[in-house]
Amino acid sequence: MSERVTLVTGASQRIGRAIVEACLQRGEQVVAHRRRAASTPAPYSAPVHEWSWDMVEPLQALPPVEVTDLVLNASLFERGHAWGDLGAGDTDEERERLERHLRVNLIAPWELVIGLHQRQPLRSVVVMLDTYLDRSFAGHAAYQVSRAAGAGMVRALAAELAPTRVNAVAPGTVLPSARDPAERAEQEDAIAARTVLGRIGTVEAVVEAVLYLRDASYSTGEILRIDGGRFKL
Ligand SMILES: NC(=O)c1ccc[n+]([C@@H]2O[C@H](COP(=O)([O-])OP(=O)(O)OC[C@H]3O[C@@H](n4cnc5c(N)ncnc54)[C@H](OP(=O)(O)O)[C@@H]3O)[C@@H](O)[C@H]2O)c1
Repeated sequence: MSERVTLVTGASQRIGRAIVEACLQRGEQVVAHRRRAASTPAPYSAPVHEWSWDMVEPLQALPPVEVTDLVLNASLFERGHAWGDLGAGDTDEERERLERHLRVNLIAPWELVIGLHQRQPLRSVVVMLDTYLDRSFAGHAAYQVSRAAGAGMVRALAAELAPTRVNAVAPGTVLPSARDPAERAEQEDAIAARTVLGRIGTVEAVVEAVLYLRDASYSTGEILRIDGGRFKL
């Protein structure tokens, strides 16, 4: 097989971008995916192959580059209504939200894995999940269901596509949502207090795990939590 070419979905910003940069620092080739062709991400530190696809749409064409490894990082995360007290209007909205999450976080990744694999068997796939994949919180059910299904997909693909290795990284919150610095610090303290290690994780720790699993030659079907022991207390 040719030299390593890693396709990273959702590569324009945040964790996806950090994965791309880590690959580039190793002198590897990267296909950097983004949702819209018209958007212009900040330049990367070295040239990349660019590819766009809005994952709510069916996959029309694969990137025109041979891909050896795939990191499924893009995801949809929308807060919704608690399912216990939905009004009639909320029900339609929530069903559409569930369909959207399953589309972007489950079906679209499946289409991409299968499409690439049919063209040329992949060395490895790493799926980004979430340490909350098997917990339920009111207002987050659509997202949570899509992540739990994602865990099932990792195991299924590992079994179905062997010897391609398929693994997942399930981070705890490493990038809190609050923008206001004081609110953000408060959020970080709350997250840290819920971990065994007593501190919030870093993007670097997540990237390290992604590259470890991408290259771990005797691991498949594995879900590696990078969450400081979030649910071990
Ligand atoms: N951040 C955390 O603390 C945390 C915690 C647990 C799990 N995770 C997981 O780790 C991964 C990376 O986290 P993140 O916070 O960096 O992710 P993010 O910023 O929420 O999303 C990553 C990318 O997903 C892409 N995306 C969303 N909808 C799309 C669509 N319809 N079509 C194509 N691309 C779409 C976006 O691409 P564009 O920019 O091109 O629109 C976005 O840049 C995600 O899978 C996330 O669920 C993160």
